[in-house]
Amino acid sequence: MPSSRPSAARVVELACRAPSVHNTQPWAWRIEERTDADRVGLWADRSRQLEVADPSGRNLVLSCGAALHHARVAATSLGYDPIVTRHPDPDQPDLLATIDLVRSEREPTVSGELHVLLARRTDRRRFTSWPVEEEHLQALTRGVGGHGVQAVPLTGVAERVRSGVLVDRATALQETDERYAAEERRWSERPRSHALAASDAVVAVCTVDDGPAAWLAAGEALSELWLRAAHDGLSVVPLSRVVEVEETRRVLHHDVLGGLVVPQLLLRLGWQEISRSDLPATPRRPLAEVLLGGAPAESTSLPG
Ligand SMILES: Cc1cc2nc3c(=O)[nH]c(=O)nc-3n(C[C@H](O)[C@H](O)[C@H](O)COP(=O)(O)O)c2cc1C
Repeated sequence: MPSSRPSAARVVELACRAPSVHNTQPWAWRIEERTDADRVGLWADRSRQLEVADPSGRNLVLSCGAALHHARVAATSLGYDPIVTRHPDPDQPDLLATIDLVRSEREPTVSGELHVLLARRTDRRRFTSWPVEEEHLQALTRGVGGHGVQAVPLTGVAERVRSGVLVDRATALQETDERYAAEERRWSERPRSHALAASDAVVAVCTVDDGPAAWLAAGEALSELWLRAAHDGLSVVPLSRVVEVEETRRVLHHDVLGGLVVPQLLLRLGWQEISRSDLPATPRRPLAEVLLGGAPAESTSLPG
């Protein structure tokens, strides 16, 4: 039987296409070859945490959650029935999940989902004013996540206006703080998106609990929602400042969401002009850099 190792590496490589805050890619992976099913471990890489904007590591774990969902999609597309264990070892909190790559009875197919995963981008260009129908938004967010996550469409006029004001307030607070600006300059090539337009659709990714388990689940839900939206041709842009700033997060939680669920990320969604060119993919770290214990003997490359 040929070694299954290149495929596990391929799963990791595809998982690394996941979005991450400031493209920090704050993850590390370990592939454990086993006779029954190779095991892929997902670790938080604390050296890539944003110390100023993300002291608790929320955005770091959210980003890793998105990578975990990408890994699940990739594994399924490549012919596995992945078995995920979240936070498998209480003594190692930075081991966020393991994924056992159990070979499926199905033949591997390069699924439409994999194409969407590779084509997805954070497209910050101005959306058209074409509205995202409320029904469409409800369908996109319905059943997303699980594990105590709710994707809440903010469709009422008052909650949308309030969210816009909070996003502006968070931006103003961070922009007058040189520590944030310096950190942002250090990590990003592109300026972040920081404002809501009147015609943008708005979704809050929320959780019932708060803490690393909730953040991981929220990241998985973010990826699921984003790939669903991308499949439909919709652009998604996260707005994380409003949850990074203590004051605006609190108001969003209590006044906009009624204190019922905890906001983890705000998203704006909309349609791009059809005539616009596709955006190039943002770079990712080489596989050898994110694999603990080194790259597998046979290298892989991303399809497409
Ligand atoms: C948790 C999280 C927070 C993010 N926050 C923002 C943000 O506030 N503004 C923004 O423009 N992009 C934000 N992004 C998008 C990232 O900047 C983007 O995923 C990254 O640069 C990689 O680019 P790509 O998504 O096109 O692959 C966020 C992404 C994640 C996962």
